[in-house]
Amino acid sequence: MNETAILEVNKVGKRFGGFVALNDIDLSIRRGERVGLIGPNGSGKSTLTNCLCGAMRPDSGSVLFAGKSIDGMSAHDRAKLGMSRSFQLPRPFHSLSLMDNLRVPLKYVVNKRGGSHLSEEKITLRAYDLLEKFGLGGKAERLPRDLTQVEMRKLELARAMATEPALLVSDEAMAGLSNSEVDEILALLMALNREGVAIIFIEHIIRAVMAFSERLVVLVAGQKVADGLPKEVLANEQVVGAYLGE
Ligand SMILES: Nc1ncnc2c1ncn2[C@@H]1O[C@H](COP(=O)(O)OP(=O)(O)OP(=O)(O)O)[C@@H](O)[C@H]1O
Ligand SMILES: [Mg+2]
Repeated sequence: MNETAILEVNKVGKRFGGFVALNDIDLSIRRGERVGLIGPNGSGKSTLTNCLCGAMRPDSGSVLFAGKSIDGMSAHDRAKLGMSRSFQLPRPFHSLSLMDNLRVPLKYVVNKRGGSHLSEEKITLRAYDLLEKFGLGGKAERLPRDLTQVEMRKLELARAMATEPALLVSDEAMAGLSNSEVDEILALLMALNREGVAIIFIEHIIRAVMAFSERLVVLVAGQKVADGLPKEVLANEQVVGAYLGE
């Protein structure tokens, strides 16, 4: 185990019936690293996210988080250890205010971590601070349905960050946004990274991927076909071919 690795993925495989969605994926992420994960539609990016974060059980391989095996662990326990994800399609609690959307993960994940306990007052303060940080302070008592698309993306990220993760997997947090909204989300993710959070950034908007990523990993049809410096990876013929062939 690499001392500085927050995540070590070893030969992870996933099939749906006879279809191979992930084929022996190896991947290592350092603490605080910013890694772009790209690949054509259906290449396995969200499936890998699901296998890492505990929403799906891989058929083979193993995953270490902060040096510990997390194989077979529930998504909830992975969140407690410090692994978090935002969903490609935001999944807020629709009947709860934004404030309560953040109070839930604060109560059930942060409070149960390592025996520490936050008072109701502290939970409320933290939820409010998070909303402010994500530019949603003025809407604390509103419902998710009152939000614009970019605000909904911000709420999804704020919910993922409420658990104070060491690793965030951001699954297409920018889909459908305008250029300036893409820049807003980019700035938020960079700010989270400056606080020390390692981020796996899944995105189709290449401009954003290049601005964000220190390293780029490419999946094509469930195979990892490239892993390296962004400029070098995008110069790789197999990668270019996969995109042109889309
Ligand atoms: N639960 C499932 N059951 C059956 N097939 C699935 C399931 N989830 C994903 N797949 C299939 O696995 C493949 C990979 O899907 P996945 O969602 O991981 O791709 P992706 O890289 O995230 O694509 P996109 O860029 O469109 O989000 C696709 O062919 C998809 O149809
Ligand atoms: Mg996906």
